[in-house]
Amino acid sequence: MDIKTIAVIGAGTMGRGIAYAAALGGYRTMLEDVRPPMLEQGVAYIRKSLQEGVARGKVSAEQQQSALANLSTATTVEVAAREADLVIEAVPEDMRLKIGLFTELDRVARPGCILASNTSSLSITEMAAVTARRKQCIGLHFFNPVPKMKLLEIVRALETDDPTLAACQEVGRRMGKEVVVVRDSPGFITSRINALIGNEAFHLLQEGVASARDIDTALKLGLNHPMGPFELVDLVGLDVRLSILEYLHRTLGDKFKPCPLLVQYVKDGRLGKKVGRGVYEYEEGKK
Ligand code: CAA
Repeated sequence: MDIKTIAVIGAGTMGRGIAYAAALGGYRTMLEDVRPPMLEQGVAYIRKSLQEGVARGKVSAEQQQSALANLSTATTVEVAAREADLVIEAVPEDMRLKIGLFTELDRVARPGCILASNTSSLSITEMAAVTARRKQCIGLHFFNPVPKMKLLEIVRALETDDPTLAACQEVGRRMGKEVVVVRDSPGFITSRINALIGNEAFHLLQEGVASARDIDTALKLGLNHPMGPFELVDLVGLDVRLSILEYLHRTLGDKFKPCPLLVQYVKDGRLGKKVGRGVYEYEEGKK
């Protein structure tokens, strides 16, 4: 399978990051969102990230130009998907939404086009089951911030075939990512472990064992995590983390039961950096 054109559905944080990696990897890339302002912000983010890549010596001026030339936008799924060899969806983590999208993509994408989800925990097999191309459905789990994160976690659904897996491994390599392959299972490798660490940090805070700042410092300096668990959950979104934990709790059992303090923060609207307050308070542009 020779992938030349990639469509990315959803221009939020993850979609725009994936489109950056695709365009830089040399693929004709179409970023889709029904909201034109999101597309404008997405393209601005890609331009800024390319500029940053050049400043850091990671991207050459030629690569920057050709990535921008590779990039285009669309406001409907149909227009984005009809020419694509690979479609990667990065819409919110709601299975009903993903099922609806996979149903539509199966109708509008060419036969043989691979359908991928960037879900961080949900079942790829369940999404594949609504299509007539189960063998060409797969999970491509990228990490935030995509330009700086080196991993691509590839999720093999029950019926994903070898050519689809091989094609996606090659896409990951051309995007400059290290690839790991995991069988479809709730939370895969990364979200399953990350959710437990993050939940335990909330238990420590709830029990008054240490302050949020000290828990973050301990993990950064004592365990060499690049970010503390509260800095990270503020970046990812407390609502996102809670919904992952609820799903893992339902599918894998009690060890993933969300900490009541996390539930309370979400009810209070402390959703993270995106709203200016999570575990920490944020002023415009600084923590
Ligand atoms: N283009 C290309 N490369 C770039 C770039 C760009 N625009 N910007 C940076 N880079 C490169 C840098 O040159 C550097 O490369 P080397 O390691 O080869 O030198 C690399 O990207 C990292 O950049 P920095 O060293 O400047 O990064 P940093 O020290 O500022 O660290 C961080 C930033 C990588 C985000 C770090 O804080 C970190 O790892 N934090 C944890 C983030 C994390 O865990 N994310 C996952 C969240 S969970 C998720 O996303 C999925 C989910 O399921 C919810």
